Amino acid sequence: MNQRRALNPLRLLHRPRWAEQQPTWADAKPGLIRAALRRAEERSAGGWYVLAGSREVRPGRAFGRVVAGRELVAWRDGSGGLHVGPGACPHLGAALCDAPVHDGHLVCRWHGLALGPDGRPGWRTLPAYDDGVLAWVRLDTPAADVPVLGPRPPVDRSVAAVATVIGRCEPEDVIANRLDPWHGAWLHPYSFAALRVLSAPPVDCPPAEDRFLVEVTFTVGSRFGVPVRAEFSCPDARTVTMEIVDGEGVGSVVETHATPLRPGQDGLPRTAVIEAVVAHSDRPGFVHARRVAGALRPLMGVTARRLWRDDIAYAERRYALRARA
Ligand code: FES
Ligand SMILES: [Fe+2]
Repeated sequence: MNQRRALNPLRLLHRPRWAEQQPTWADAKPGLIRAALRRAEERSAGGWYVLAGSREVRPGRAFGRVVAGRELVAWRDGSGGLHVGPGACPHLGAALCDAPVHDGHLVCRWHGLALGPDGRPGWRTLPAYDDGVLAWVRLDTPAADVPVLGPRPPVDRSVAAVATVIGRCEPEDVIANRLDPWHGAWLHPYSFAALRVLSAPPVDCPPAEDRFLVEVTFTVGSRFGVPVRAEFSCPDARTVTMEIVDGEGVGSVVETHATPLRPGQDGLPRTAVIEAVVAHSDRPGFVHARRVAGALRPLMGVTARRLWRDDIAYAERRYALRARA
């Protein structure tokens, strides 16, 4: 790494006009994306679902969400431990999502029934796991003791941010969108430039080599960018992880988790896209990790909303086409 690069990761952008960039459709073979999705779907999540960002479950207040059709409530005990239980009170069914937390127990607002980590007859807590960035709950079998975690940089030298968007689609539509890296510079020119898919897994890819390697520049404003190489892989059926393997912020990851909720009033499915960005720098000092976080701003900040909106639209469109077929 040369001195200039060490000081400033920004590069001047040289790119053609949007319509004049190299089309990627011929490389983005539908069969290849489909095969990558099928292989991902065979990877068990061990019954675990991402419920929320860890920080969304705050001390002193309950957090409610319906996951895979099950109404759930999460809360923290006095030492910060995460607990998850059914979201309906076992007495007369009051919603527990806004129950105050007192002495490590949820207190039902209707008649004051206190519900703790040990549960009670008719109301059993579920296995929960807090990995420091995300809160997980286990709902299904086959059951693994802990969630399948992909690569992560060390938490103490990273900056993490979690954002959630909800789409009218199923988890596979979200995963299929992320397993099409070719759309990046076309659909998101405000965030990505000079995107090249350096390698894509073949249709009959062995599990150990099942990843996409992509060269891409994160744009910063209209004139600058941060070039990186990133690897996309699926640790489980509902997760795609992008890890920066070369360039600024090596080790930083963007994890996209697709959590099924329940159908909306329109009868269409709903999926929460819970995205964790964990920005990291090998250089000493938290301040530097913050600067990397700045370089990853397209994935963390204001432009991310546009990115997510366009990706959700892609996933929703994919779902609509499937539903029509
Ligand atoms: S409904 Fe919760 S205590 Fe009565
Ligand atoms: Fe995208």
